[in-house]
Amino acid sequence: MADIEGVKETKHYFTEVPASHEGFHLKGAHQLDWGMRNRLSKVFRPSTGRTVMLAIDHGYFLGPTTGLERIDLTIVPLLQYADALMCTRGILRSSIPSTFSNGVVMRSSGGPSTLKELSNELIAVDIDDAVRMNVSAMAVQVYIGGEFETQSIKNMTTLVDQGLRCGVPTMGVTAVGKELTRDARYLGLATRICAELGAQVVKTYYCAEGFDRVTAGCPVPIVMAGGKKLPELEALTMAYRAVSQGAAGVDMGRNIFQSEAPAAMIQAVGKVVHELMPPAQAFDFYKTMKREQELAAAKQ
Ligand code: R5P
Repeated sequence: MADIEGVKETKHYFTEVPASHEGFHLKGAHQLDWGMRNRLSKVFRPSTGRTVMLAIDHGYFLGPTTGLERIDLTIVPLLQYADALMCTRGILRSSIPSTFSNGVVMRSSGGPSTLKELSNELIAVDIDDAVRMNVSAMAVQVYIGGEFETQSIKNMTTLVDQGLRCGVPTMGVTAVGKELTRDARYLGLATRICAELGAQVVKTYYCAEGFDRVTAGCPVPIVMAGGKKLPELEALTMAYRAVSQGAAGVDMGRNIFQSEAPAAMIQAVGKVVHELMPPAQAFDFYKTMKREQELAAAKQ
């Protein structure tokens, strides 16, 4: 029996203070259930409402992509700087320490390799396994305008239904095929469709014209996809513009792990995303960190 000796009897209900019902740091998520919001909070930092998500899922259709040949050596040291990691379950189980306690966004669709029609994807993970691995969200490719558009949307809506049952958010990833233009009109269409059909987060590319309209027209958070490797200053500028125009952070892969100094780069991206550090200053920060890391490596 619990020790009830000396239990203070005077209760204080603070009747004069209305119960707080706080908002939530992500748009469109304030009416979701607790578990789902808790998972989203592991991906998007509550203090800023943004995320630096490190995308390393390329191998699911590209095989051992440059920079990802040895996840244990090149990616694990970067985890300390990532709010969330986007990866496949194979890499999660085989190569990511289970002590990693930030968000995991699990690639949950797949099928064709880069040698085939990429839009012909299916769901590649059972929700039970996603829950077993305690992931924070599932990611699914959506090919608006692609050959297997409807099938890819069905993949997403199935995951959304399963995710809602278990409190796991779904991130719709708008894939842009070679033949499709990455302009605001297309990205606005693709992101809005993902949100309308239930995705709690949408990942899409940045476009120089009208990206603010893309984010405004999407009722859930948009994270900016990195895309092909750019010079560091350009990548930081793109990230800065995206968050200034309403993105809730970035999901970057090659622009981080293919950088000359990946640890310096992910920290510089963090400065841009969470502190809105202007690109030129973030680039200086990158160079300083890079030099420090080189000096530290030379001493070893
Ligand atoms: C999108 O198709 C996949 O999630 C990619 O693996 C990921 O978006 C690639 O990231 P990045 O384009 O920044 O290298």
